[in-house]
Amino acid sequence: MSSKNAPLLQAVYVTVLVYILVQIHLTGVFVITFNRSVSDLGNNEQYDALKAYSQSRLVYFKRSRSQSDDAIINHDADKSRDPEVASDMWNSVDVDSMRTKGGYLSNQDSKHVLKKEVSQQAYGVHKFQNHAQQTEISFPLVGRSQPLSTATFPKALRFKYDAFKMAEPNCVDEEDLQKFRKHPHNVQLMQQKDRQLRGVIRIVDNGVFHGSFRPPGCGWESVFDEIKSENLSSPAAVHFDVLCPLIVPGGSSFQHFLDGVLPKIVQAHDLLRNKGVKILIPRNRDKIILEILGALGIEKDMILFHAGGIYTARKMIYTCITPPLHPTLWQNAHKLMNAPEKLPVPREEAYVILLTRKQSHNGGRNMLNQIEVQAFLEKRYGKEKIIVYPGRYNLTTSVSVFGRARLMIGVHGGALYNLNFASSDVSVVEILPSDGAGNPMPQGIAHTIFWSMCNMLNQSYWRIYNKAETRNGNVIVDLFKLGRVLDRIDQQFGYFLTN
Ligand SMILES: *[C@@H]1O[C@H](CO)[C@@H](O)[C@H](O)[C@H]1NC(C)=O
Ligand SMILES: *[C@@H]1O[C@H](CO)[C@@H](O)[C@H](O)[C@H]1NC(C)=O
Ligand SMILES: *[C@@H]1O[C@H](CO)[C@@H](O)[C@H](O)[C@H]1NC(C)=O
Repeated sequence: MSSKNAPLLQAVYVTVLVYILVQIHLTGVFVITFNRSVSDLGNNEQYDALKAYSQSRLVYFKRSRSQSDDAIINHDADKSRDPEVASDMWNSVDVDSMRTKGGYLSNQDSKHVLKKEVSQQAYGVHKFQNHAQQTEISFPLVGRSQPLSTATFPKALRFKYDAFKMAEPNCVDEEDLQKFRKHPHNVQLMQQKDRQLRGVIRIVDNGVFHGSFRPPGCGWESVFDEIKSENLSSPAAVHFDVLCPLIVPGGSSFQHFLDGVLPKIVQAHDLLRNKGVKILIPRNRDKIILEILGALGIEKDMILFHAGGIYTARKMIYTCITPPLHPTLWQNAHKLMNAPEKLPVPREEAYVILLTRKQSHNGGRNMLNQIEVQAFLEKRYGKEKIIVYPGRYNLTTSVSVFGRARLMIGVHGGALYNLNFASSDVSVVEILPSDGAGNPMPQGIAHTIFWSMCNMLNQSYWRIYNKAETRNGNVIVDLFKLGRVLDRIDQQFGYFLTN
């Protein structure tokens, strides 16, 4: 090649590459997002707000089945694209909403239903006032002895979850705490945004799902009118009776199933448990996903793996707009997976689990001195209490092992997601690989996830910023710092060292 052609060739390569990436993105085979990796939760990234374990405030309306639905839906969609307007909307709705009964899995006996009609100003209702009706539904939508019927469910149910507060991580020194405080993602997460507290469930008659959700995808920022009623007679379409598409970036992996798909299922659980319903999810990479769904009463015949193409359904359930992180959703999921609320054994008998990245799909972030760390823990807590996580358990084993953990220690990585099986009595120590300047090395907002999830489950979270040895985040765990963290944790529980 002559050097004259080089710039042209380069341009061609870049164009082809961009084209391929766009195709991949559109087909949903693999999702690439800008400025953040798949491991950054896709669009599930923002979560703030106050620790309240009660239920959401409910605002809903039932509409008669008329073409004015579209007008309403489009009207709302426009609003929800504008952050300011949307948050005003949710604020004003809140004034007329009513707090439903607290706690979870408690609604069999819940008499708390909303009697009040949504105020007309809240939605600029002149377009549909004739169609607004009252209906009765108690929250949460989980834990009923019988599923909710899709036939009588309101066509659009919107609600607002209670605000909650995030607690800062526990750090062993002021320097680490300052590193946490100065990071803008953490600052954002400590503040509350109303928009991230809303939930929407819609049932669209003759709904069509075109195989992928438009950006920003299936999540709290979703475009409200994503799924439409259509008269689709395309032979390419696969038809179902009741379908709930949950195509969430990375949702085929254990970790992003937990943080991306599961909360949305929990939001609408009593509706999705119906025998006729199928949920559409990315093809699972990790077997445990099916086991978790099974625990939730969603059997294999109710699960459909996404194979591209167009899906139509007599009733399409849309539950993408779910708070990215909310204690109610997390605790309900925890309960549904049969994870214990409290340590089932005395603390002295509980496990200390050292997490490894043996079966990790992304290289790096390994503990270069794992042997020393293990020896250090064995000496401190007794060999028989230490479990070195082999990298994969089924659901039953996960719950019985992590459910009996008083301590989980690991470098930032997927294995820490197992804290979802642990009780609220666990203390989680995350070793966060950081660069020379003390910035976390995991990409995008990934560094916030374990801290956030521990907040959701009211678990004690400890962070050690540990300077990485390599560019892919391998660390030599600072045993001195780890020892100080463990001293603090042990003191907190009045536990004295055996050696
Ligand atoms: C559209 O759907 C309606 C019923 O929902 C049906 O009567 C009509 O024939 C359909 N039209 C076409 C073009 O398929
Ligand atoms: C889970 O794994 C354990 C240990 O490997 C095994 O004994 C048990 O039968 C498995 N349970 C299920 C439900 O697969
Ligand atoms: C959270 O945990 C603390 C102790 O760790 C406990 O005092 C508090 O009551 C818990 N909060 C909830 C809502 O369970």
